[in-house]
Amino acid sequence: MNKILPAYDVHPISVKMLRKGHPWIIKDKFTDKFHPRDRFIVAKDRRRPFALLIHDPRHKDVKARLWADKGDFAAMIKNFRTELSQRIQKSVLKRKQKEIIKDRENFYLIFGEADQLPGVHVQYLAGEILIQFYSYFWDSYTDYFIDQLLKTINKVMDVEVFKGNVWIQHRADGSSKQQKAKSLDPNISFRNVEVKEFGVKYKVELGKAYDCGLYTDMAAIRSSLSKDFESAKSVLNLYSYTGAFSLYALKHNTKNVVSVDLSEKYLEQLEHNISLNEELEAKNHKSMAMSTLDSLKQLAQEKKKFDLVISDPPSSSSDGNKRTNALQNYEKELPQMAKLLSENGKLLIFLNTRRVTRNKFEAKITDIIQKHNLPLKVGKKLGLADDCPFLKGFPEGSYLKGLVLVHD
Ligand SMILES: C[S@@+](CC[C@H](N)C(=O)[O-])C[C@H]1O[C@@H](n2cnc3c(N)ncnc32)[C@H](O)[C@@H]1O
Repeated sequence: MNKILPAYDVHPISVKMLRKGHPWIIKDKFTDKFHPRDRFIVAKDRRRPFALLIHDPRHKDVKARLWADKGDFAAMIKNFRTELSQRIQKSVLKRKQKEIIKDRENFYLIFGEADQLPGVHVQYLAGEILIQFYSYFWDSYTDYFIDQLLKTINKVMDVEVFKGNVWIQHRADGSSKQQKAKSLDPNISFRNVEVKEFGVKYKVELGKAYDCGLYTDMAAIRSSLSKDFESAKSVLNLYSYTGAFSLYALKHNTKNVVSVDLSEKYLEQLEHNISLNEELEAKNHKSMAMSTLDSLKQLAQEKKKFDLVISDPPSSSSDGNKRTNALQNYEKELPQMAKLLSENGKLLIFLNTRRVTRNKFEAKITDIIQKHNLPLKVGKKLGLADDCPFLKGFPEGSYLKGLVLVHD
């Protein structure tokens, strides 16, 4: 084997996981031996090199991500830029060819590991390009990455984007540091754009906050639920944020839409979003600025019923007093939600975290249903789709999990 290869033994569990398609190596005593200056790591299994990884010594937990599990690793390291450029083209082309982005001005052009571009997500937002780096590895290639990305977008998609449309957000620290996206143009600190998703306009704010005002990873899910929205006369949108599900309901002519969020600021943005869409009936919508639990109690007292109840909580939240996680909250909230369902009503519940697997989520929900004797059963399963692909054997990549609960 070529001596210059930065080859290291990895933990037997890492070997097993990598072979099963899990593309991360988490910090352990083996990764502690990786030299911090090695950009690439060749992982060995009983002396035999079997995977080429990109190395991220600065990341707290994810120390290396799979780049290739076959081929001539020495040549691949040498030709890394060419391969990177090819992978960018493949990823962008896939969106164009499969027509998975129909009727949307917001979509992912690159979705990390599942697009063989580990630790980087790229969103197209009505002419703006938001690049989110989840790994510090990319710091050494940022300029090259942007050049190749812009060239590819301009060639493959029927749009013209420039450096001034590019926004970079560093997310390797998770949400703990809450870094905003930064424009490549040093004279621009933020920009508002109007983004159309399934015929509805939303205000998206780049450079203002950690999240931009519209969750693009939910778009494919919204689309898959269009029949449920068509038949719903009333919709309760819990944890509504800026109202994408509420506006989607109004677009489907739902006559009674209620949005609940703890944040008045987000509800203001929701109402602004409604005002952007003249054809939507603002009188059919009501905002409630309070905690989900309080709203559920209030709506039950008012004897309100809904055909669709949506719950998309943050992975951990506070009702103003105590911090709890989303899964724990379902213990209290699910029985209350069930009370508000109309006769053929459906509950759409989500869990948005890479720390809990789909199996655990389903098991917990089934457990709550049984424990409280709720007249519900699990129906359709919802998750990332279309422009947001995921890999089998990599639960962290399919972080967004949803269940439709129907009457039993
Ligand atoms: C993940 S976002 C929901 C995204 C939304 N479903 C969408 O697709 O655009 C979570 C929202 O929950 C709100 N929130 C957090 N804790 C809350 C609570 N206890 N009660 C109500 N809303 C809460 C936050 O302000 C945030 O807007």
